[in-house]
Amino acid sequence: MRPLVFELLVALLITGLSIFSTIKYRYRPTPANQRAKCSGYKLTSISLTDHGLNGSLTLAGEPCNVYGNDIFNLALEVTYETDDILNVRIYDTEERQFQVPDYVLPRKHFHKARNPTYEFSYTENTFGFVVKRKSNGEVLFNSTGVQLVFEDQYVSFGSKVHDIMHVYGLGENVDNFLRPRDSLSTLWTRDTPSPPRQNIYGFHPFYLDLRDSGRSHGVFLRNSHGMDVVLKPVANASKIEYRILGGVIDLYFILGGEDGNPKSVIEQYTDIIGKPHMPNYWALGWHQCRWGYGTIEMVEEVVENYKKAEIPLEVMWTDIDYMDQYRDFTLHPTNFPLYKVQSFLTKLHSQNQKHVFIVDPAIYHGDDYAPYKEGVDLDVFIKNRDGSIYYGRVWPGFTAFPDWFAPNTQLWWTRQFQRFLEDVPVDGIWIDMNEPASFCFGSCGSGHPPGEHPQGSVDDLVINPNDPVFEPGVPDYNLLNPPYKIHNGYEFLSTQTVATNATHWNNLTEYQTHNLYGHMEGIATYKTLTTINPKTRPFILSRSTFPGSGTYVGHWSGDNWASWPYLYYSITGILNFQMYGIPYVGADVCGFNNHTDEELCNRWHSLGAFYPFARNHNAHNTIAQEPYIWKSITEAAKKALHVRYTLLPYYYTLFAAAYEKGTPVWRALMFEFTDDHTTWDIDKQFMIGPAVLVTPVLDSGRVDVKGYFPKGIWYDWYTHERVYGANRMILDAPLGHIPVHIRGGSVILTQRPAYTTTESRQQPFELIVALDETGHASGEAYLDDGVSLEPVESLRIRFSVCGNRQVVMRSVGSYKPNAKLEKLIIMGVGLDLVVDCGYIDMNKNAVITF
Ligand SMILES: *[C@@H]1O[C@H](CO)[C@@H](O)[C@H](O)[C@H]1NC(C)=O
Ligand SMILES: *[C@@H]1O[C@H](CO)[C@@H](O)[C@H](O)[C@H]1NC(C)=O
Ligand SMILES: *[C@@H]1O[C@H](CO)[C@@H](O)[C@H](O)[C@H]1NC(C)=O
Ligand SMILES: *[C@@H]1O[C@H](CO)[C@@H](O)[C@H](O)[C@H]1NC(C)=O
Ligand SMILES: *[C@@H]1O[C@H](CO)[C@@H](O)[C@H](O)[C@H]1NC(C)=O
Ligand SMILES: *[C@@H]1O[C@H](CO)[C@@H](O)[C@H](O)[C@H]1NC(C)=O
Repeated sequence: MRPLVFELLVALLITGLSIFSTIKYRYRPTPANQRAKCSGYKLTSISLTDHGLNGSLTLAGEPCNVYGNDIFNLALEVTYETDDILNVRIYDTEERQFQVPDYVLPRKHFHKARNPTYEFSYTENTFGFVVKRKSNGEVLFNSTGVQLVFEDQYVSFGSKVHDIMHVYGLGENVDNFLRPRDSLSTLWTRDTPSPPRQNIYGFHPFYLDLRDSGRSHGVFLRNSHGMDVVLKPVANASKIEYRILGGVIDLYFILGGEDGNPKSVIEQYTDIIGKPHMPNYWALGWHQCRWGYGTIEMVEEVVENYKKAEIPLEVMWTDIDYMDQYRDFTLHPTNFPLYKVQSFLTKLHSQNQKHVFIVDPAIYHGDDYAPYKEGVDLDVFIKNRDGSIYYGRVWPGFTAFPDWFAPNTQLWWTRQFQRFLEDVPVDGIWIDMNEPASFCFGSCGSGHPPGEHPQGSVDDLVINPNDPVFEPGVPDYNLLNPPYKIHNGYEFLSTQTVATNATHWNNLTEYQTHNLYGHMEGIATYKTLTTINPKTRPFILSRSTFPGSGTYVGHWSGDNWASWPYLYYSITGILNFQMYGIPYVGADVCGFNNHTDEELCNRWHSLGAFYPFARNHNAHNTIAQEPYIWKSITEAAKKALHVRYTLLPYYYTLFAAAYEKGTPVWRALMFEFTDDHTTWDIDKQFMIGPAVLVTPVLDSGRVDVKGYFPKGIWYDWYTHERVYGANRMILDAPLGHIPVHIRGGSVILTQRPAYTTTESRQQPFELIVALDETGHASGEAYLDDGVSLEPVESLRIRFSVCGNRQVVMRSVGSYKPNAKLEKLIIMGVGLDLVVDCGYIDMNKNAVITF
């Protein structure tokens, strides 16, 4: 959530937003002196290794020192990791530049390339390299066209290719799905109410590049420093240029097989960064939250109101309101007394519902506060250069910040949760404000007595941001104000966060590690919850993420706005995170900031019901927006959630594929219909898995919506009416209705919905069989107990129809679902049948004729 001090700046921000939408992208051009003076590197030696090449690079001329100090000697290491993954590393021979440590993001050494789909070549003088796709000779990356500058505080390189790059990724940002050809993306994690086209919470230096050939590849840069990534069209060529505040060049090229299939690229990307976690089955139910449920009675009332309105509610949430003076691991003594919270949780659990609490990383600074005292004793907090604790300010007042690099931090963090969850057994943890957010500019200073409450405002600056701050022992290394200015949405790197000259364990600086903070908190929280409950899947939702975070946490798009553009941005945000290996993602339904209105909130409930993570949430100073507040929205929510809950077994199967292979759950149409260029920039519709197409209304005052249907036959979810593809269509979409279509050729396992997912899982299974023009269809399903970290039993079922009006069902596995298959819903050319099929055991192979 956004800090109070920023309310004053809302007006400013709003002006900012409209400016951004008209002037689009602003960036400073490459400085003239860089081009003129930097001489690049020459390759002075090269040798073959078992898995690639090793070489040495030396500065080719005089240092240019554009934004720091040129580094004279570099090592080149090229590793043919797999047939589809190539790693190219260029780093300082002395290895003084910060590199993302293995314990933050384990580096996988595959070393199993046999017959690579790529070709690596280089030029010696001036050094440059080229990565080509073997099958068609396509140049994927040619570093020769962009100057290589390797300085302590500035690393710049890139690629120019004579081709059109269609680039997706480089987030987290609020924008179209397809990156504009002329654009700049800034990566630096930041607490901000989600302004379009600026850096926000997460850090994902990954892009997918789709070429006119219809083949795509991915490029991942393993580097945690703040950076700008510039895309530029140059005549009929395209250029990408990285401008990074330090670290090394550590690039992974991901080919996605010979045909460069985007789904394969993403799967292979998650081979490198780690597979997404498997969510609990209940996590796929509907969630309700708001900032401003000020008492436990209010929370209880919301649960009851949902029930009265018969709108499914799976998970109830509480924001910072539950805490005593906003301190972590406490309950407000009068608004959320322990005994009432406990009886509330008992009742909720008896109704098969869950509860999630928010926890912020910043720890209140007070001698009477055990988590702080223990943290001091165990030496877990971020420091000033002189070794004293660094203080910032968040909701509880002056705060210390856990340093996830310190050796005792995990133990300390686990202990706090153990103690708290013993009393208050909530089902999941929401980690917010972990960019990390702090309301002082840089440090709040150390001179504050414990327990002092902040009276001042953001402008009680204790440092002059324009003063250079040098790291001791390293000449001219400016931590607070580096010579190259990335296009951070705030003027200084340290604005609204921990000062970049703060010190982590082992003399690491915030400058180097800032973008790892939320990711490391996610890992620590995951380890905590699996220590407490070794057998169950943790539920963790995190605002700030980094490559690999999806293994531990889900994500929501942060503090969005109750406005029509943000209804659309929710789709592009979710599609982006599917590429970052974090498929469990959503956006605050009806909008977080600003008052929503009945029409917007209605449309948002229709769309939000399909988010992988589906939650209504808003800010404390806005009107109530639970779906039961308006009759029309009650109806809209019930109708859309009926579809979602019917599809729960399908969603769960998609998450199992994400967990096993990294396959996206939500898919841009481009992912499913890569050969069809029309789909490449479609981001107002989306696919759920391979079989379901959703076409939401994203504008006010409409009763219909235009959508594109790729080649094939499609069936309306509600009426089974056929739509023939390769066409744009206008669909009826009165308020409360969201068009959903099933792709011909699919078989989808569904279950009759009930109030909670637990009850839904007792209901009969039904099979949707949507035939293609030739009477064929296939599909699969995955089931297990829905909560075990490593399920002992599971069940996989394959369904197929081969033009002969018979569904063949093949089951493997010992998990026994609580329900049987009772119905087939057949859609086909000249067919629209519902067939009762008796009670078919899901664990048996069967042939069902219709
Ligand atoms: C290549 O360089 C790396 C890093 O310096 C080193 O560990 C490795 O042994 C080198 N391989 C060969 C074959 O020289
Ligand atoms: C790479 O770029 C350089 C400079 O733009 C160009 O001379 C060279 O032909 C390119 N190589 C390939 C394989 O396209
Ligand atoms: C466009 O690309 C073609 C083929 O790569 C090249 O021959 C031609 O000179 C380019 N045109 C411009 C304007 O750069
Ligand atoms: C950062 O530098 C400023 C200015 O020199 C100094 O006042 C401050 O204490 C430093 N902060 C930390 C965390 O070391
Ligand atoms: C950290 O830096 C301080 C001051 O430069 C130095 O005295 C200390 O030895 C360093 N510690 C480590 C672990 O490198
Ligand atoms: C928030 O609401 C104000 C007042 O209605 C409006 O002017 C502003 O445009 C809204 N902000 C956004 C981002 O929608």
